[in-house]
Amino acid sequence: MNWKQKIRSLAPLGVAFAWLAVTPAAGAATLSAQDIINTKCVTCHTRQGDQVNRLQQRKTPEGWLMTLTRMRTMHGADLTTEEVRTVVKHLADTQGLAPSETQGARYAMERRLNTVEQHKTEQFGQMCARCHSGARVELQRRPMAEWEHLVHFHVGQFPTIEYQALGRDRDWVNIAFKEMVPYLTKNYPYESKAWTEWKAQAPVSPVGRWTVAGHWPGKGSYAGVMEVKTGASTDRYAVDFDGAWADGSAMKGSGQALVYTGYEWRADIDIGGAKMRQVLALDGDRASGRLFEREHDEIGGDLTAARQGSGARVLALQPAHIRAGETATLRIVGTGLDGEVKLPKGLTLIETISRDQQQVVLKVAAAKSAPKGLKPVSVGVAPTATLAVYDRIDYVKVTPDYAIGRVGGNGGSTPVVQGRFEAIAHSAGPDRKPGTKDDWAIGVVPAKWSVEPFDDTAKAEKDVEFAGLMNTDTGVFTPGGAGPNPKRRMSTNNAGNLNAVATVTEGKKTLTGKGHFIVTVQRWNNPPLP
Ligand code: HEC
Ligand code: HEC
Repeated sequence: MNWKQKIRSLAPLGVAFAWLAVTPAAGAATLSAQDIINTKCVTCHTRQGDQVNRLQQRKTPEGWLMTLTRMRTMHGADLTTEEVRTVVKHLADTQGLAPSETQGARYAMERRLNTVEQHKTEQFGQMCARCHSGARVELQRRPMAEWEHLVHFHVGQFPTIEYQALGRDRDWVNIAFKEMVPYLTKNYPYESKAWTEWKAQAPVSPVGRWTVAGHWPGKGSYAGVMEVKTGASTDRYAVDFDGAWADGSAMKGSGQALVYTGYEWRADIDIGGAKMRQVLALDGDRASGRLFEREHDEIGGDLTAARQGSGARVLALQPAHIRAGETATLRIVGTGLDGEVKLPKGLTLIETISRDQQQVVLKVAAAKSAPKGLKPVSVGVAPTATLAVYDRIDYVKVTPDYAIGRVGGNGGSTPVVQGRFEAIAHSAGPDRKPGTKDDWAIGVVPAKWSVEPFDDTAKAEKDVEFAGLMNTDTGVFTPGGAGPNPKRRMSTNNAGNLNAVATVTEGKKTLTGKGHFIVTVQRWNNPPLP
């Protein structure tokens, strides 16, 4: 194969690699996963008894997709996209992770790519999370032999691993074998009680009606109903979503879902023309995760859901704050919302605008004298929600406090990655000193947005002028076009080192909060797990 043929043979994989497919392709595979493994994998993999070597690993659907994509791209395994999908589904179901084994690393599947990881040990961070996320590792379970093979694979495939920064300053290979392999085997073992118990449990069908609530930076809160119906085959479902944004505008859509491992819900949903993905962990009558645009994973937000008819639950209070001395409309979202609404001291119900089992919309007045702080709101027997009752904003913080945006477009194949910021108002508590223990967060408040240079270099290079545009009302920053810019010094690109600045007017005062924001080059390599 010459290099041109090689590149051509890799081309269709871009698509397979980017996303786990939810929708089955036309002319779906006829071979079962087991048949594919027994005929296609064994052309390279040897067997031991009824076991195919190297398959003794457990991982997420995204993890299996990455491995199988590598079998095709690096080793030339003759697998169709449909066969990869069939095998990924089978392996994720039979050699997946228990829900509890994904805790703390789900953000990688949920594509919260501004997460700054806190590693369990400094050594793990330096040895195993300098090229990719620590989550990619934490979302796997292997016996010792397979952790060892993984180190061999790394050194064989990426020999520069020993010469790069944090590799050449130490005996990388020996540390990997002697210290990391035992560490990984102990912390991420193949056999686990959690997995044995999870496999023994019958999965709970998601079919039914679910109340959904969420918050989406740059757009606000939303709530609605998701109806899940049986789909074309096992573990496939049809999904309809009917909801509304906090301002009342409609948020509707429909699509398809596929459930892996009995709980890993992946849905492709068209919402108002946007191609969205849901990555949720189902938990009986609850579900939680994230909803985001497939081609712009930074655009989206949290999602929590509860099955209707499964008891009384509050999912969200929108908004979750009220200023003493003012009147506000509050929306309580949940299931089984029967019974009396109990408001905190100092708050009076002026009017019940609407109510049913899923939503209670109230007009509420907060007296100037109402006790300040995080106070409970409840409906009947549903567990309480928390309402921030405040009289003044003492300071504002910006989230994320560190974010990465990326130039893109401009004729290139990679779109821009936006920065999406929110201003979180805080109370300094009774001592009125910011940054002390009695401080509490009031919640997301509207702000005016701008950017400023992060440092003198950014100022000298005029990063503010070139890196892109901040929407003053929404806190959404859209980076500039990709490629060299002749207007910049040495025709450099539109990268920038900025602060995203939120300005909130509080009485006669102006409060500002800042988040560090780097605009950098395109994400050329965008695997399912960062
Ligand atoms: C063309 C040869 C070839 C075929 C066909 C092939 N593999 Fe592999 N596989 C390899 C090689 C080489 C390695 C070791 C290097 C690596 O991990 O990439 C490997 C490693 C693996 C690993 C271990 C990966 C890790 O991270 O430790 C798994 C799991 C795997 N293969 C699964 C499969 C499955 C399932 C199939 C069939 C659907 C398959 N392979 C087909 C060549 C192949
Ligand atoms: C030099 C950069 C580099 C370092 C350092 C590194 N990795 Fe990787 N790792 C990679 C790349 C690149 C891949 C993706 C391979 C592919 O295309 O699937 C990968 C993939 C993986 C995978 C997924 C493999 C699969 O198919 O399931 C795991 C797990 C992993 N690395 C663990 C580790 C561990 C553990 C360490 C520390 C001992 C480590 N990595 C250090 C570059 C690195």
